[in-house]
Amino acid sequence: MGTADASSKDVAFSLAEKKPKVVFVLGGPGSGKGTQCANIVQHFGYTHLSAGDLLRAERDSGSENGNMIQNMMNEGKIVPSEVTIKLLEKAMLESGNDKFLIDGFPRNEENRAAFEAIGRDDDNIETIRKRFQVFLESSLPVIEYYKAKGKVREIDATKSIEEVFEAVKVIFSPKDEEVKKCCAIL
Ligand code: C5P
Ligand code: MG
Repeated sequence: MGTADASSKDVAFSLAEKKPKVVFVLGGPGSGKGTQCANIVQHFGYTHLSAGDLLRAERDSGSENGNMIQNMMNEGKIVPSEVTIKLLEKAMLESGNDKFLIDGFPRNEENRAAFEAIGRDDDNIETIRKRFQVFLESSLPVIEYYKAKGKVREIDATKSIEEVFEAVKVIFSPKDEEVKKCCAIL
């Protein structure tokens, strides 16, 4: 897993945790969206995020996506949702707020579907939380039982798959009796 992927997942995770209120401001050009957004920000404490502004800032930052964004904008095309959503997530997290007016997004079906796919992470987080609670209540005592008998071998599973497997290998490499004694692996 690349670093960029990992960090964007972290961003999505901590955002979903906050369960922010997101209002999409949709309307044709010149319909007064900007003006009303400013009013809503002032009266209701929302943070206003413009997808176009975020894309322009990213283009000007000299990031690796800069050229691609410039080309898409020049042709009036819609930048791939993955890029725009990452910018929105980052801005949402950095704002520290939990109420957002999102302007200029979703601009097409791809934008909409990609954003909704991220929204579903909320459910996953709830499910993971519940499953972890069940683990603590039901399964931890089983591990404690074998631990008291000296039959547990623990592994730090927060590292990369390769690093975790290095630790697994140590346990399974036949130091003869080691595997036989071992009953549970965390
Ligand atoms: O909303 P605004 O007019 O500032 O958008 C300018 C340009 O930014 C669009 O023409 C498009 O190329 C890009 N854009 C995008 N995806 C969005 C919003 C804007 O690709 N969701
Ligand atoms: Mg605009």
